Amino acid sequence: HRSWMKNQGIPHDEFDGRPVIGICNTWSELTPCNAHFRELAEYVKKGVHEAGGLPLEFPVMSLGESNLRPTAMLFRNLASMDVEESIRGNPMDGVILLVGCDKTTPALLMGAASCNLPALAVSGGPMLNGRFRGKNIGSGTGVWQMSEEVRAGTMTQEEFTEAESCMNRSRGHCMTMGTASTMASMVESLGMGLPHNAAIPAVDARRQVLAHLAGRRIVDMVREDLTMDKILTRQAFENAIRTNAAIGGSTNAVVHLIALAKRIGVELSLEDWELGSNVPCLVNLQPSGEYLMEDFYYAGGLPAVLKQLG
Ligand code: FES
Repeated sequence: HRSWMKNQGIPHDEFDGRPVIGICNTWSELTPCNAHFRELAEYVKKGVHEAGGLPLEFPVMSLGESNLRPTAMLFRNLASMDVEESIRGNPMDGVILLVGCDKTTPALLMGAASCNLPALAVSGGPMLNGRFRGKNIGSGTGVWQMSEEVRAGTMTQEEFTEAESCMNRSRGHCMTMGTASTMASMVESLGMGLPHNAAIPAVDARRQVLAHLAGRRIVDMVREDLTMDKILTRQAFENAIRTNAAIGGSTNAVVHLIALAKRIGVELSLEDWELGSNVPCLVNLQPSGEYLMEDFYYAGGLPAVLKQLG
């Protein structure tokens, strides 16, 4: 086994029993939200090396919301099986999950949970604010509104084409509080990612720092034997449900969190979502509100919300 791995230029002394960290990558040019993940993986590797681990990156099925038909949701469980068997069948001690577009986050968390090894998710981060004619436009939210305007004859096709270039103008996932931003917030509130995982824009250098620090942390988590079942407790899910209410998160969080809870053996039902019913919505983001994820980061991001909830 060692001999074959050496064909990648790994020095002999790195096969000394140090933690092997898998980097589970959903990079794909067909998933534009995750198209920057090969670069992001390099920052994770730096951190793993610094902490004395051996990083090994591997691809899994990538689910892109904007291109995949009939719907990415049809393939969430298939992707989670890919993740689970890739982790279970290969020699790794811990894993970093590179997630972004909507279904990639639950698929990777679910697959890793079935293997129950130390794991940390690193989200790819939201795009910068869309800006068109002095106003914020959010991916998803804006495109529906403007396509209706084209049909109503209040916007020309040329204006629409210009607006679409202004909307998704940087790397990253949708910058509204849609499913991608919601699930990145769930990662953070569950304890499955580092603080500020949800809101640092994809192109902000601090996103690369977060990936770097996650690479360091996962090596320590292996040494601490901090497996996913020790983090994904019933209390962690209750925190996440309350957080979802406070951020005005996507209703898709309901199906994804219940599926994740089942993978790790925690009882969670639809009724448990009543825990969020008395929690005020603290975050004013599109699609229901006004602002976008870049603004959310500058306002303190999820740590500020969690502090308020506390
Ligand atoms: Fe990927 Fe919205 S299309 S997050």
